[in-house]
Amino acid sequence: MNNKELDVVQNRIYDLRSELDKHNYYYHVLDQPLVDDHYYDLLLKELLELEAAYPELIEPSSPTQRIGAKPLTAFDSIDHKVPMLGLDNAFNEKELEDFNLRLLKMSGFEELEYFCELKIDGLAVSLQYDNGLFIKGATRGDGYRGEDITGNLKTIRQVPLKLPETASFEVRGEVYINKRDFASLNKEREEDGLQIFANPRNAAAGSLRQLDPRLTAKRPLRIFLYGLGEHSLELSRQSDLLDYLQDMQLPVNPERRICSSVQDVLSYCRHWEEKKRELEYEIDGVVVKVNDLSLQKKLGSTARSPRWAIAYKYPPEEKMTKIIDIRVNIGRTGAITPVAILGPVNISGSTVQRASLHNEDFILEKDIMIGDSVIIHKAGEIIPEILRVVKEKRSGKEAKFNMPEKCPSCGSDTVRLSGEAARRCLNPACPAQLVEKLVHFSSRRAMDIEGLGPAMAELLYNNRLVHSVGDLYYLTVEQLIELPRVAEKSAVNLVEAIEKSKNNPLRRLLFGLGVRFVGEKAARLLAEHFGTLINLARATEEDLEQVEEIGPKIAEAVVQYFTLPETNTLLEKMKSAGVCFEEPVTRNNTGLLDGKTFVFSGALDSYTRDEAASLVEDRGGRVSSSVSKNTDYLVSGTDPGSKFNKAKNLGVETISEAEFKDLLGQF
Ligand code: IVH
Repeated sequence: MNNKELDVVQNRIYDLRSELDKHNYYYHVLDQPLVDDHYYDLLLKELLELEAAYPELIEPSSPTQRIGAKPLTAFDSIDHKVPMLGLDNAFNEKELEDFNLRLLKMSGFEELEYFCELKIDGLAVSLQYDNGLFIKGATRGDGYRGEDITGNLKTIRQVPLKLPETASFEVRGEVYINKRDFASLNKEREEDGLQIFANPRNAAAGSLRQLDPRLTAKRPLRIFLYGLGEHSLELSRQSDLLDYLQDMQLPVNPERRICSSVQDVLSYCRHWEEKKRELEYEIDGVVVKVNDLSLQKKLGSTARSPRWAIAYKYPPEEKMTKIIDIRVNIGRTGAITPVAILGPVNISGSTVQRASLHNEDFILEKDIMIGDSVIIHKAGEIIPEILRVVKEKRSGKEAKFNMPEKCPSCGSDTVRLSGEAARRCLNPACPAQLVEKLVHFSSRRAMDIEGLGPAMAELLYNNRLVHSVGDLYYLTVEQLIELPRVAEKSAVNLVEAIEKSKNNPLRRLLFGLGVRFVGEKAARLLAEHFGTLINLARATEEDLEQVEEIGPKIAEAVVQYFTLPETNTLLEKMKSAGVCFEEPVTRNNTGLLDGKTFVFSGALDSYTRDEAASLVEDRGGRVSSSVSKNTDYLVSGTDPGSKFNKAKNLGVETISEAEFKDLLGQF
């Protein structure tokens, strides 16, 4: 390969990286995706292939290098050149006013400008950027020395591996997990027989402390940045710092505010105490900082915390109630989950009557008995959770709870498999599991069959109309109207909804089948890769592991699923009913410019660059910022510049704006 060819490959690699970085930023930081996942995956695949063919061109800041780091045996330690201090707390408004008075006295001013930020309940980390590249990241540790978690931080998509400028600084922030992501993570862990996390903060901490970055990559970690460590930036206010970080495409919290008096600060604190439930992440207060950075410096710090900042803490939302009973719930994988039936109590905006007790270890560890008074809260502000038993309230009449040794639904023995926290019913024909499977299959994100909730699923099973999800496709209106309390209209609607579900893409069917460890994302990846259920069913573990992000655990579960005779029967049933087994190739375009790469040079008369790019992308084409051998057309406008010459040199076809319009089919 000669130098010229290498240049071309290198250019394409640069283009792909900058395009992927752009999409990553729009998707993960701005939350405004520009393209669909499929398009992103195609770009990533092309980059992976080029880097595999030219490993000498791999760079640590390439988007392909997020998950690559090897598992560690232990973390190295990193010294913080500027200590990572904690914050003093104010537990009420008076303590906040005292903080203000203290600072007025120290500074000699009559009024101080403050900057208020939400106090994200996560884990403090520090990120080092050198010449615009992310090179190292650490936990807070004891404030003076933390752990080197660079490989884990790289897996967080919101952390740019490359900044838009070649700046150098150490930036600090909070790694956290959204409330909803936390709830699904725990739900999945409960089903998989794993220990659940007590709150999003523990989940974030546990995820960052994984020695294998591939495990961290699977956790929905996010980050907000709010401060600096060592740096030589010239900034005058905390508010400017956050704007600067935002310009550097780093994720910063949008709810920040400059407050010109302590009264303003108090109203910000009250506002968010009221509204915090509406946030997607958990906060435990507000951090109030002196806005003027030179005044911050003058005020300085004690050994523990800066004098110029304080954390205004919200009281935790906790309530006391009674455990009336403990029942068990059987999940679709047979996991038996004990559930506490509680005296109704209003907490964090809703009435709570049940709380999962997860598994027998949880009950043992918290020493929970039927009849106990307990303190509850909502973990991640969503999931009701028992924090502790109020032992002083025991009367002696409380009863111990034992996990059932026989499945309450089918009577088979329950077992606790080694390494699992869950007790399971292993009978695949267990009615309770089947009902849960039906509910999952019909759920909105799976086959989306409206009208098939838990009550209907149970009714269908109890009346022997459905023994597997495949039987749904043979239900008739006549059968359904025979059932108690089913009107003709709902019977017709249900049959129609089932019929409609036959056309769902493979990804939904696959997710709905409930293969172990195959969540929504894995289902999409597998469906896109294999295209048809038949191809997937034939795949070996090796084939499956070829798919990006599919590991041995999923691969094994998929192969095992397709070797079960029940699976065969089920799929035959669905096939005969006409259920779609294919994943359509997603293309939101007319295909006119399929696979063609365009580069624009110079100004166009009729369109802005963005408009022109959308026109190309809508027709299946791709727009790149620089010319390479892979460019199909260079569109030259007024003052085309150096790209035009480069295109000529490489023999790339150059076209005028009028010719471009012809290609688009617009005149
Ligand atoms: S500033 C020297 N800002 O709260 C200033 N901290 O209780 C140090 N935290 O260790 C921190 N959100 O982990 C700051 N907007 C924010 C924050 C924040 C959350 C955490 C951080 C810190 C802890 C102190």
